[in-house]
Amino acid sequence: MGSDTLAVQLTGIEKRFPGVIANHDVNLNVRAGTIHAIVGENGAGKSTLMKTLYGMHQPEAGTIHVFGQQVRFKSPSEAISAGIGMVHQHFMLADNLTVLENIVLGAEPTANGVIRFEQARERLNQIMASLGARVDLDALVSDLGVGQRQRVEILKVLFRGARILILDEPTAVLVPQEVEELFVTLHRLVADGATVIFISHKLDEVLAVSDDITVIRSGTTVAEVKPGNVTRATLGVLMVGSELPSPHGRTSQVGAVAKLVVSHLSVRGIGGRLAVDDVSFEVHEGEVVGIAGVEGNGQFELCQALLGIEHPTTGSVHLDGDDITGKPVQYRLEHGISYIPFDRHREGLLLDAPLWENTLLGRDGNPEFQRGPFIAASAVRADARQVIDDFDVRTPSETVPAYALSGGNQQKLLVGRELASEPGVLLAAHPTRGVDIGAQAAIWEKLRIARDEGLAVLLVSADLEELIGLSDQILVMFDGRINARLSPAEATPELLGTYMTGGHQEVA
Ligand SMILES: Nc1ncnc2c1ncn2[C@@H]1O[C@H](COP(=O)(O)OP(=O)(O)OP(=O)(O)O)[C@@H](O)[C@H]1O
Ligand SMILES: [Mg+2]
Repeated sequence: MGSDTLAVQLTGIEKRFPGVIANHDVNLNVRAGTIHAIVGENGAGKSTLMKTLYGMHQPEAGTIHVFGQQVRFKSPSEAISAGIGMVHQHFMLADNLTVLENIVLGAEPTANGVIRFEQARERLNQIMASLGARVDLDALVSDLGVGQRQRVEILKVLFRGARILILDEPTAVLVPQEVEELFVTLHRLVADGATVIFISHKLDEVLAVSDDITVIRSGTTVAEVKPGNVTRATLGVLMVGSELPSPHGRTSQVGAVAKLVVSHLSVRGIGGRLAVDDVSFEVHEGEVVGIAGVEGNGQFELCQALLGIEHPTTGSVHLDGDDITGKPVQYRLEHGISYIPFDRHREGLLLDAPLWENTLLGRDGNPEFQRGPFIAASAVRADARQVIDDFDVRTPSETVPAYALSGGNQQKLLVGRELASEPGVLLAAHPTRGVDIGAQAAIWEKLRIARDEGLAVLLVSADLEELIGLSDQILVMFDGRINARLSPAEATPELLGTYMTGGHQEVA
C-alpha cells in the first residue's frame, strides 16, 4: 500500500530538555498514503518527535522534509499551512463552546473579519459525509464523550486542510467499538490520499492497522519493521530491549467483609437526566469489581458520587459499615477511599507544580509529612522519590514540574501516589491508560498485591482484557443502569461488547 514518495522524512533529529535527551539521532520515513505507526516505551520520545514535526519544538539538530521539500517550522501554524495536522495525546478543546465554534475559531474562513459559520458548516458536512462519521456540530463539547471529542479533533485538523495527520495515542481513551470506527475513518482518509502517523501502546492495533512501524527506544530509532514480519512479542522486545513479563495468572481472594456497599444509587448528570439509575453492588475486601461500559454511560457520575463530589438523588453508600452518603469528600478520603481519576490533567495533577508536590496531593494531612505548622520537606521529597522508584517513573528528579513528564509517566506517578496512601477502597478509572505494555503489567501486579492484602477495588476500564484479567466480578453499565453481571470466566470481549451497546443479559 502507499507509494514510495515520502510524505515525511526526519533525519538525525536531536531534541533536549533540561537534564533529558528526548530525541537523539532519530530517523523517520513515512511513505505518502500510508498509516505509519510509532511505538516505544513511556518517555521514549514519541510525542516530542511529533511536536517537533508539528513546529511546537525547534530541534537542536537534524532535518525535516515534507513531500521532498526541506522545511523548518517556527510554529504549528506554519506546519498547518504545509498540510500537517496533529491531534494531541491530551485533547485541547474548549468545553464551553460548541463543536462548530471549536473547529472554526482560530481557523479560516473569514470575510471582513466575520467568521462564516454557515460556510464552515457546509464544508464540515462534506468532510463528515466522506468519512462516514458524524458529530452534532451544535452540541457543546462538554456534553460529548471522549470518542466524540476525538472525532471533533480530527475534523478540526481536516477542516484546516491537513493531508498529513499525526494522531498521538488516539485509541488510549476508546473502547473497542470506537477503535473500529476510528480505523474505518483512517482507512478512508488514506484511500483518499492522506497520510497518517499513529502512536499507540496497543500493539495488536498497531499490527492490525499500520503499513509500517518505527520503533523508538530511549530517544532514538532502533528499527523500522513491517507488521507482517513481527509479532506482538517481538515488537515488545524491540521496544524495551528485553522480554516482557506475562500479565496473566490470577487467584481470587475475595473476603467476607463488604468494604463498599452501594444500594439503589441514582445520580443526576448534565441537564438533570439520571446519569446513574438505581445501581446496587458491593465490593468486598480483596475483591476487584470491574465496570465495563462505553464512556458516558454513568461510570464517571458513579465515581463522583462515591467520592462525594456529586450528591445522589436516592440510595446510599456505606464504607466499612459507616453510612457516608451525605459525608463530604475529605471525610471519605480520610477514611480510606482513594481515587485514580478519569482525566489525569483535569482531576489528578498540578501540571506546573513539582513532582514532590504532586505526590503529596491529598496526603498532606499525614503526620509523617508535617513538622509543626510546616511541611517536612525532606520526608516529602524522600516519599516522592520512593513513588518514582516503585513505579519506574522516568524523570531526572522529583523537582521537575509534572508537565515535563511524558503522558505515560504522569499516569504511573498518579497510580503510585494513590497506592502509597494505603487505601482500603480504591476507585480506579483507567489505571493503565497511556502506559506502555511493560508498565501496564507492572501496575497490574501492584494492584494484585494490594488486593491480596485486602484492598477493595472498583475498576472502571475501557480495556476489556484488563477488566477480564483483574476482576472478580464484572458489571456492565449502559445508560446509567447495570445491565449485566458476569464472572471473569464467562466474560469475553465480544460478550461484554454486546452488553456495552445495550444488549440484555438472559436471566436464568
Ligand atoms: N516540556 C518538557 N520539558 C522537559 N522535559 C520534557 C518535556 N516534554 C517531554 N520531556 C521529556 O522528554 C522525554 C520524552 O517524552 P515524550 O513525551 O516525548 O515521551 P513519549 O514517548 O511520548 O511517552 P508516552 O508514551 O508516555 O507518552 C521524557 O523524558 C520527558 O520527561
Ligand atoms: Mg507521548
